Amino acid sequence: MPAAYYRSEEFLQLELEQLFRRQWICLARQEEIGKPGDFVVRDLAGESVLLVRQDNGSIHALSNVCLHRGTLIAEGSGNTRRFVCPYHAWTYSTAGELLRMPLVERSECRNLRLPEFRCEIWGGFVYVNLDQNAASLSPQLEGLSALTRNYHMEEMTLSYSAEQVWPVNWKCLAENFMEGYHLSHVHQETLHPVTPTHLCEHFAPGLAYLGYNSRYPATYVQRGKGHHDLSDAEKQVSPMFAVMPAHVAGVAAHATSYLLLQPQGVDAVRAQLGVAVYDDSISEQKKEEIGMFFEKVMNEDKEQMTRLYTGLASRFYEPRVLASAPHEGTVLDFYHYMDRVFNVETFDS
Ligand code: FES
Ligand SMILES: [Fe+2]
Repeated sequence: MPAAYYRSEEFLQLELEQLFRRQWICLARQEEIGKPGDFVVRDLAGESVLLVRQDNGSIHALSNVCLHRGTLIAEGSGNTRRFVCPYHAWTYSTAGELLRMPLVERSECRNLRLPEFRCEIWGGFVYVNLDQNAASLSPQLEGLSALTRNYHMEEMTLSYSAEQVWPVNWKCLAENFMEGYHLSHVHQETLHPVTPTHLCEHFAPGLAYLGYNSRYPATYVQRGKGHHDLSDAEKQVSPMFAVMPAHVAGVAAHATSYLLLQPQGVDAVRAQLGVAVYDDSISEQKKEEIGMFFEKVMNEDKEQMTRLYTGLASRFYEPRVLASAPHEGTVLDFYHYMDRVFNVETFDS
């Protein structure tokens, strides 16, 4: 893609409008809000979204903006029975109903509630869509569900999370996570012994996903306990997938590692890093080791991405060929997805 694809302010505004405000964006793991009243606040393309676990077990995605004069209601995460606005104390239930307005006639607040966004869970991940008319997510992930079902990501438990801001366009990071071409070279000591480039296998993309299988050498020993549904063949492979546009992940028998991406301008992306493990009874030290391994791999990528983004500013850079499908087919799939949404083949560089 031409460098402007990664550097145009105008194109970023289109992406925010047509991708981040209209597609399904993963904001959390379901176990982050496991109990009734648990909540987290997340930003989605400038909208403050309040995810709250209800008494009936469902998750509501509410606008975190007070109906009175527009202050942000909740912050961070926690557990509560009521949300009280910090400005004039208007009070909301965990389902978003306005319950109380100090010194205002109660009749005036009847039936008022915080706007609610569409919310779906897939594989234990919580996705929100700001577009009320969007097609449901799960049917768009059918093929990916078949490939990942036996790993039972929905039974995994978050064991590591961190937030980082990388000085690159969000697509550079997404594309990098999704290609296996660099694995053996950039991650010589970390990933190459486990998932070398030459064993990568591309799989066909679907409506809202793309990915490849990273296969372990036959001699590689199991990486930890996984679900009994997994076949021996599945235990020897990690499907790497993107739920388009902003959730990239890999899943192995013992864990899923992922990034949730949000652009912070054209030249910065906020990445929420997470690892969820299948066997929650492993020691804290083991969980820490798995998390640190993921962070180390991401740091290796970060160094390359910083160099790449500087290089893309050159007037002499011209995009040329990509490697074959097993190694960079996912980058092409990414371009095709973007082309379906934006017609980027006619993108003016
Ligand atoms: S802005 Fe929330 S109560 Fe006034
Ligand atoms: Fe990498």
